[in-house]
Amino acid sequence: MCGIIGYIGNKPASPILINGLMRLEYRGYDSAGISTIEKNGLSIMKDKGRVKNLYDIDGIDKLTGTIGIAHTRWATHGKPSKENSHPHIDNHNMFSVVHNGIIENYNELKTFLLDNGYTFYSQTDTEVVPNLVHYYYTKDTKSDKLKFLRAVKNACNMLNGSFAIEILCKDYPNNMIVVRKDSPLVIGKGEDENYISSDIPAILSFTRNFYLLNDLEFANLSKNSIDFYDNNLNLINKETTVIEWNTSSAEKDGYDDFMLKEIYEQPNAIRETIGAKLDDNSRCDFSELNFTKDFLSSLNNIYIIACGTAMHAGLTGKYAIENLCKIHTEVDVASEFRYRSPLIDKKTLCIFISQSGETADTIAALKLCKEKGAKTLAISNVIGSSLTREADYSVYTHAGPEIAVASTKAYTSQVILITLLAIYFAEVLEQNNSEINLLKKDIIELPKKIEETLKLSETIKNFSRKVYQEKDIFFIGRGIDETVAKEGSLKLKEISYIHSESYPAGELKHGAIALIEKDVTVVSILTDENLVKKTISNIQEVITRGAKTLIITNKDINEDMFDVVIKIPDTNTLLSPILSIIPLQLFAYHISKEKGLDVDKPRNLAKSVTVE
Ligand code: F6R
Repeated sequence: MCGIIGYIGNKPASPILINGLMRLEYRGYDSAGISTIEKNGLSIMKDKGRVKNLYDIDGIDKLTGTIGIAHTRWATHGKPSKENSHPHIDNHNMFSVVHNGIIENYNELKTFLLDNGYTFYSQTDTEVVPNLVHYYYTKDTKSDKLKFLRAVKNACNMLNGSFAIEILCKDYPNNMIVVRKDSPLVIGKGEDENYISSDIPAILSFTRNFYLLNDLEFANLSKNSIDFYDNNLNLINKETTVIEWNTSSAEKDGYDDFMLKEIYEQPNAIRETIGAKLDDNSRCDFSELNFTKDFLSSLNNIYIIACGTAMHAGLTGKYAIENLCKIHTEVDVASEFRYRSPLIDKKTLCIFISQSGETADTIAALKLCKEKGAKTLAISNVIGSSLTREADYSVYTHAGPEIAVASTKAYTSQVILITLLAIYFAEVLEQNNSEINLLKKDIIELPKKIEETLKLSETIKNFSRKVYQEKDIFFIGRGIDETVAKEGSLKLKEISYIHSESYPAGELKHGAIALIEKDVTVVSILTDENLVKKTISNIQEVITRGAKTLIITNKDINEDMFDVVIKIPDTNTLLSPILSIIPLQLFAYHISKEKGLDVDKPRNLAKSVTVE
């Protein structure tokens, strides 16, 4: 939530900042703003609405400052408005600040500052920060080159909550200070220039060399130096991490939207995820984990914890782990898990799934599990993300940057990775059997089958045209198909704004069937051989009540009963979510386009949910 960008170098900062904000806009689009240091001091230009509105601000094209900070906002405290937009400035126009996160004790800090004569123009939590920095700056009687840094450090030590902050100071026109706690921030190192960003793709066209800050570490940047400090202001050493993603993977590459591009990237994303983990004859290779048979046999249970789509991927993981490894597995929504006293101890393995690796609830759940003595394993798409730095072990999906707010390739790559993990566990536990060998063969064939499934786009588009004006759409399935129903329903509601619900097919008659009437659309997923007949009986029940039916299946069924049948390639049931979700991603996409909506940036949503 919220994106921040910073630049310090020899070039005019404002075009670089605005360009960076455009790439971060998926994180929030309620308002945008930039602050640069110009010859006459700090300049701030900001407005409500999308980043492109910045181009309409008088004088923005005349800025020449070569140091600047910028922000695109997902509103938490204070409605979207110009005065609530970042950057924020202190009462004496000395410090400008952009902030991603939430200052939980801002009311107390505001009272403290009001008592000390400061005033406030916005309803934001952030506005306390520049004023607090000013307060400590003026209290500091020394005047050396670290005075700015000391003031920032003293102010940050007063903040509760989460923050990634960039600060400029009028008195230090060649420096910028950044700090983070529980909110993402990366530093990109260039030649005589440095970049700051909330995520890697936004500045990938400038550099591949990144520094990752840990909580409460400070960086003092000039154009050709970066000094890192711990929370006692001791200098610390940091190595750069080289990021291999190519720049075109962060561009639309001729597609209308990132979401469509990412849907079509799935064959390759899955190839990358499988990578060297598997080839035809060998055991599944997770050398980065090195789990022993003793450790895995000691486990009483496994928890999979995540949010949203990542949690749906976790649900498929439960099927794979219980099926192949015979270890009891539970799946939890991270925001609930934290508050329900889960039974965790040394005999528990907790697996966290997060595309971004920055989701606040997932990170908080991981910290809780560590405190309780469990072993923690992160599955993420972002190397060096906060989640992976907290976890005991990390494995990566390698799906490339995912920019569209609605997750697609991250989901399928998470499903395949957790299935591979389940195979690895089973092999370490010596539960190797013929089922695993067949499953491995099916995994190798998956990318080709995804390519075949993508060819069904036109049929799905035609059906979407018939139903895009509907108010409610239902998704049903049984077994692993029900987890796909959940994900299909989430995809539809988030980008089409159509009300949608998903149900285990057998559960419909316990209540929800009351909502089925003539011409309501029901989408059914049928891939589990053992459950197909039972699900068809449930579909029959909704047809009797007048429902229109869209069927996603890999089985030979009597198609005459249904309005539209999408036949996808056959595969192992544990892998079927990777194929059956693709028509549903395309269904949501085409409906959203038909309605003329912004597919990549649905209302009220942000890609990384870095606040609780
Ligand atoms: C939906 C979607 C979200 C995310 C969720 C977790 O399309 O993208 O539901 O899956 O916010 O995000 P990560 O995976 O970054 O933890």
